Amino acid sequence: MASAPLLKDLEWLARQAGAILVAGYEQDHQIDFKGEIDLVTEIDHRSEAFIVDELSRRFPGHQVLAEERGGRDDGRNQWYIDPLDGTVNYAHGIPFFCVSIAYAVDGHLTLAAVYDPMRDELFTAERGRGAWLNGRLVQTGQQTELSRALLVTGFPYSIRETAEDNFDQFFRLSKLSQGVRRLGSAALDLCYVAAGRFEGYWELSLQPWDLAAGALIAREAGAMVTSVRGDLNLLQPPYSVLAATPGLHAKLLAALRSSA
Ligand code: IPD
Ligand code: CA
Ligand code: CA
Repeated sequence: MASAPLLKDLEWLARQAGAILVAGYEQDHQIDFKGEIDLVTEIDHRSEAFIVDELSRRFPGHQVLAEERGGRDDGRNQWYIDPLDGTVNYAHGIPFFCVSIAYAVDGHLTLAAVYDPMRDELFTAERGRGAWLNGRLVQTGQQTELSRALLVTGFPYSIRETAEDNFDQFFRLSKLSQGVRRLGSAALDLCYVAAGRFEGYWELSLQPWDLAAGALIAREAGAMVTSVRGDLNLLQPPYSVLAATPGLHAKLLAALRSSA
């Protein structure tokens, strides 16, 4: 029987996959469109194939949900893989993207690694033990004033079709906070809340591979992390996220609820 995964397994996988992203960076890409503005490169597939093949070799019988190949998410031992989060940045030569790997046991997020290879920043977390950036403990900020809070958000690829386009929320919180950034990687947005770089992050429509690892990292760093409806279980549809300092979470939840 395969032994249970350790955090060092996720760290190794994230660093190796990050090296694949760096090797392909700033080269011409084969770009395929999954939707009007939702793209995928051959590097997404290469990174994902590496991670998924390693997982099936080392942990046979575990369930894997990966962005490009799909898969199931009802396993006792469940992995969530985003082989390249921030793929639009990547395809445009903007150095802000990462690899995101999460492992859950019986529906509980247990281990996580998010690696930004351009900055060599490896964010990790283990349930009940804490969150780290390159091996040093990280803690979320303590801000309680919304007007002093720097926030970050994202917009869905379905922005042209959906009523949940996040414009009302973006408008409202831009007026209430210090500012709202849009960096283009949900996993890193969550890690930046963990590290105290942002005081809050929300996104209305995500997928489990976008948020699983970053959510555990932010939680273990002391952030309050729920869906935008306030649910603690993030691994059930409809997937969304609100991560914030403990003193700001309720204020952000109220502001999001009162937006159209
Ligand atoms: C996207 C990024 C982006 C977020 C989108 C995600 P991808 O993931 O995380 O920041 O706004 O909702 O789909 O396509 O780069 O893996
Ligand atoms: Ca993603
Ligand atoms: Ca992706």
